[in-house]
Amino acid sequence: MKILFLDQSGKPGGAELCLLDIAKTYRGCLVCLFADGFFRTMLEEEQIPVKVLATAIDVQKDSSTLQGVYSIGRLLPLAISVARLSRKYDLIYANTQKALVVGALASVLSRRSLVFHLHDILSLEHFSKTNQRIAVTLANRFASLVIANSQASQSAFIAAGGQAKLTQVVYNGFNLAAYRDIASQRQPTRQALGFTDRDFVVGHFSRLAPWKGQHLLIEALTHCPESVSAMFVGDALFGERDYVTQLQQQVKDLHLEHRVRFVGFRSDVAELMAACDLVAHTSTAPEPFGRVIVEAMLCGTPVVAAAAGGAMELVADGVTGWLVAPGDPVKLAAVIVQCYDRPSIAQEIAATAQIQASQRFDLTAIARQIDRILVRVVG
Ligand code: UDP
Ligand code: GLC
Repeated sequence: MKILFLDQSGKPGGAELCLLDIAKTYRGCLVCLFADGFFRTMLEEEQIPVKVLATAIDVQKDSSTLQGVYSIGRLLPLAISVARLSRKYDLIYANTQKALVVGALASVLSRRSLVFHLHDILSLEHFSKTNQRIAVTLANRFASLVIANSQASQSAFIAAGGQAKLTQVVYNGFNLAAYRDIASQRQPTRQALGFTDRDFVVGHFSRLAPWKGQHLLIEALTHCPESVSAMFVGDALFGERDYVTQLQQQVKDLHLEHRVRFVGFRSDVAELMAACDLVAHTSTAPEPFGRVIVEAMLCGTPVVAAAAGGAMELVADGVTGWLVAPGDPVKLAAVIVQCYDRPSIAQEIAATAQIQASQRFDLTAIARQIDRILVRVVG
């Protein structure tokens, strides 16, 4: 099957990393991006054909209105280019909401089927009413299938007016081979990072953005023993520089400089997770899926997540990890202290999580599931 993938971002967020894994399995595909960036390089490194269609368009991922950014004058030429390209493909696969806008128009022009991979929770915490209405209307009217990345994303889509019969939940898949023997990286990576055996390292892996809640982990440290430190892996991908300044100030104000480390965006997430004693996910708004939660499980590192959205489908509290109320640094600290005090129990839970995650999120099985439903759309 020949698929034309569309994604608005040139930067590797979770939706883009998920697309990369799916596109890898379709050799006759093309990925069109509406912005240039490191994500293009990552696709090229995997020998996935990629084309950057418009570098002049401002594609702030979290911008609340689609209309402002996408005036029709800017949209049409892009949609026409996509329509022209799509004639050589069986299917247009929109991976983000702005890609849905362009893909919907293009699908009308080229009479190709449209699939929308929904990576977002369409609620007011994430998107304006107008934005939600545009996404739902276009999906209802033009898409043959909406792949929701979790039941939480599917429910929000339906609650916002989306047609239930269009939707199918497919979780993100992960390449299990990348996690085999990852535990052997623990000591060398800790050494390279300068952590000793006495340090209890809580890792946070996410782009730096207010709703990802890095500030909560910093606050939680004040309720933990001195030997607990935090490592933040990730960068401000979509222009959240003020939040970065705010985090740095918070660390200074709380005199935590010696216990907090920001290491920026890294491509060796699995190795870094294996080096941590606990991975914390702290989103303040419901997480649509939460790749980092599954990645921590696959690494065999205990994980604590914010109890909302897709995270509730990934973690069984006290069995495969811990769930704490979003926005509560004291409860988060309590879990950290529990893992610090009783590492063997934490390890047991992490081992159960690792087995379960390998069974539920195997990329091979998930890619097969996606292929089956796409074949039905094209057929
Ligand atoms: N990630 C990465 N390098 C970093 C920080 C994060 O490669 O420095 C990856 C992380 O491993 C995960 C993705 O970015 O696969 C983030 O996806 P998630 O679904 O957790 O959140 P999103 O940012 O998409 O909302
Ligand atoms: C989006 C969501 C994230 C999800 C990812 C992959 O970026 O914010 O929760 O894990 O897509 O589906």
